[in-house]
Amino acid sequence: MEYPLNVEAPKSFTHVVRNLPTVTAEQRLRALKATHYNEFAFPAGMLYVDCLSDSGTTSMTDAQWGAMFLGDESYGRNKGYYVLLDAFRDVWERGDQQKRAIDLLRSGVDKDDVEKMMDELYLVDTEGGFINGGSYQLERPNTFIVPQGRCAEALLFDVIKPLLAKRYPGKVFTIPSNAHFDTTEGNIKQMGSVPRNLFHKELLFEIPEGGKYEKNPFKGDMDIDKLNQLLDSVGIENVPLIYTTVTNNSVCGQPVSMANMRAVSAIAHKHGIPFVMDGARWAENCYFIKMNEEGYADKSIAEIAKEMFSYFDVVSASLKKNGHANMGGLLAFRDKGYFWKNFSEFNEDGSVKVDIGHLLKVRQISAYGNDSYGGMSGHDIMALCVGLYEEQRFEYQDERVRQCEYLAQGLHQAGVPVVLPAGGHGVYIDVDKFFGYKRDHESFAGQALSLEMIHRYGIRCSELGDFSMEYDLKTPEQKAEVCNVVRLAINRSQYSKQHMDYIIAAAAQLYKDRDTIPNLKITFGRTLPMRHFHAWLEP
Ligand code: F0G
Repeated sequence: MEYPLNVEAPKSFTHVVRNLPTVTAEQRLRALKATHYNEFAFPAGMLYVDCLSDSGTTSMTDAQWGAMFLGDESYGRNKGYYVLLDAFRDVWERGDQQKRAIDLLRSGVDKDDVEKMMDELYLVDTEGGFINGGSYQLERPNTFIVPQGRCAEALLFDVIKPLLAKRYPGKVFTIPSNAHFDTTEGNIKQMGSVPRNLFHKELLFEIPEGGKYEKNPFKGDMDIDKLNQLLDSVGIENVPLIYTTVTNNSVCGQPVSMANMRAVSAIAHKHGIPFVMDGARWAENCYFIKMNEEGYADKSIAEIAKEMFSYFDVVSASLKKNGHANMGGLLAFRDKGYFWKNFSEFNEDGSVKVDIGHLLKVRQISAYGNDSYGGMSGHDIMALCVGLYEEQRFEYQDERVRQCEYLAQGLHQAGVPVVLPAGGHGVYIDVDKFFGYKRDHESFAGQALSLEMIHRYGIRCSELGDFSMEYDLKTPEQKAEVCNVVRLAINRSQYSKQHMDYIIAAAAQLYKDRDTIPNLKITFGRTLPMRHFHAWLEP
């Protein structure tokens, strides 16, 4: 017999505590002035709630902390390297929710187990996917560990830039996406190419009746008509890659449907263009598909991931998000897939002259570290391995995504204009609506809103609109693709309902007082790449 309540039973509890100091608004203002009103430069130790980023800010589980003691800091082929590769195969490609690598590692001490570990871990001969095994990583390297997501992007673009320049001198390339993240845009621009963000902007700011959709409308999808138009207008030969970001961070953390990824993959492959996943939040996206897309309700996150990854040729991922870890990144491409074919060089008889995997490996080793650690410590690798498995737990994802929705609904009900439904990793304030469409695009009012949240209430958000997306520096068609929003990113496994209620009360009060928020001007670094990290501002 069950004894149901109308309150849910908790799924976890806090195991380690960090105390926060009491700080006054006057002290925060002093710090803001001293750091040129750059929100990234504000001291974290003076905040009550830090919603700047969900990246690397995760509170890890006890299992992850435990795994760190198994970290192997050997320089060549540390144990964690094998465990990590197998963890990727498990969570992205096998679809069966086992924890083979971890279980093997725990048992890997005596002679019998060494035989088993040789067969199943060290010398495994998987090939064909994103994670070639054993000797194949030397013959056809396709998996590159790096410290974080932007290193994967830089690795990719640093290597393909000279290749493209040599093959097609003087050409300007366009790289479309459902929306690139700011570092991806920065890397593409630094290659001299044009990033384009092809999402459904009208749909994004639509508010459903009563604030709730019956099913999530997948506002992160690529607008397929816009993609086809773009391919026609610039010509497929000028599009070396097509991206999809899951979930779509720059489009308010909104999820991407399986149907959309399947369709974009078909278009890309019809033209022989490699399809790249920015998979920073792969697991949250799988959760949304399970809960909202027809045909997936009975599938596990692992099964959904297996299908999702099957549509792509390249994965670039920051593992500081859906690695449930504080560190990590990966670039991987499908063994012998479109990316490998387009970017390798072949002899006339079809044999490989230059394998793109070897070029990436040279760059990985020279910039980040030997291939078996790629700039990560052995204990960080182990925490990441376990974190990948944490991310595919339904109970965890359910609690997390619903915490974001609780915040979004609370803000909506308090009158603060937010994008609905919530994204998978946070809630985004609609800046233009917040100010009654009265502030222009060069007033950087979203950044000002964000700074006033720090000043008045000790809450740090992140502006992801006119200021950080460089509205004033863009072409008219790129300007139309900017979402002028301020994000409240929710750290994984860290905040309670009390934190959410504090944010709701603060934002609701600031909304009432919105006319007292000053405009901002940039006093240094307006044209610096990725200026929001280092430019100076002033009210
Ligand atoms: N791609 C996406 C979709 C991201 O959200 C991020 C980082 C990156 C790539 C770069 O990864 O930080 O590990 O180098 N996003 C963080 C954020 C910083 O706050 O949204 P990284």
